[in-house]
Amino acid sequence: MKTPKKIFIFDDHRSLCEAALKQWQEAAQQAIAQNSRFTVALSGGKTPVAFYQKLARHPDLPWTKTHIFWVDERFVDSSHEESNYRLIRESLIQHITIPAVNIHPVFVGGGKPRDSAKNYEGRLRKFFSLPKGDVPEFDFVVLGIGADGHTASLFQGDLIDPFDRFVIPVTLSHLKYKRVSLTLSVLNSAREVVFLVTGESKTAILKAIAQEDSQLPAALVHSKHRNCSILADKPAAHSFKKVPDHRKKK
Ligand code: 6PG
Repeated sequence: MKTPKKIFIFDDHRSLCEAALKQWQEAAQQAIAQNSRFTVALSGGKTPVAFYQKLARHPDLPWTKTHIFWVDERFVDSSHEESNYRLIRESLIQHITIPAVNIHPVFVGGGKPRDSAKNYEGRLRKFFSLPKGDVPEFDFVVLGIGADGHTASLFQGDLIDPFDRFVIPVTLSHLKYKRVSLTLSVLNSAREVVFLVTGESKTAILKAIAQEDSQLPAALVHSKHRNCSILADKPAAHSFKKVPDHRKKK
């Protein structure tokens, strides 16, 4: 069933990142208490950079028990300016003390997107010790929303949730680079999904994905654990009524 996402609106990017950090801390605490580890999948894009930089300034977070996966990746060199590996390494990983085995990038060197997707899927299956038919359940997924309503590298018109697949190659002709992405099923199986959305350029698309019948990829993400929120700044969310952030009173 599609559960509505909660939208939280913040005065600025700084307070949005503060709230995201709080959600991350709570999710980490809960996951580690239950499973002795915290599994996260992170997106690229410009919006989450300040949040990753904020995380990087927290050596107190349980990094040795945190496993970092990528939501999606472009078929570019790992030093390329559009590489999500580079982005997350430079904004977060290189500033924290985390075991190398806890870092799980999508390998895009050589081969084809299909091979890369297969490799990533195989590594996910192994990491999560999944029997056939089961889908990985990340503890925390960070997503963005593109101006066309895409999220991760799930674009309208593409087959974003093929049966029994966790990872898809994305080879749409309008994209500058081929990509690899987690599927909708994986995003929706996560224990917590947090969209970070900022800036006026996102106002229209945020309104569009909030429509009940929207079929845009970002609108189809809903978390089977009913734990999917959008953290937006005022410019992105000015057509919404502010939802009080009750979590502050905890
Ligand atoms: C990527 C993403 C993508 C992104 C949106 C929003 O690697 O580009 O995974 O889905 O989150 O395009 O991007 P911005 O944050 O730059 O607006």
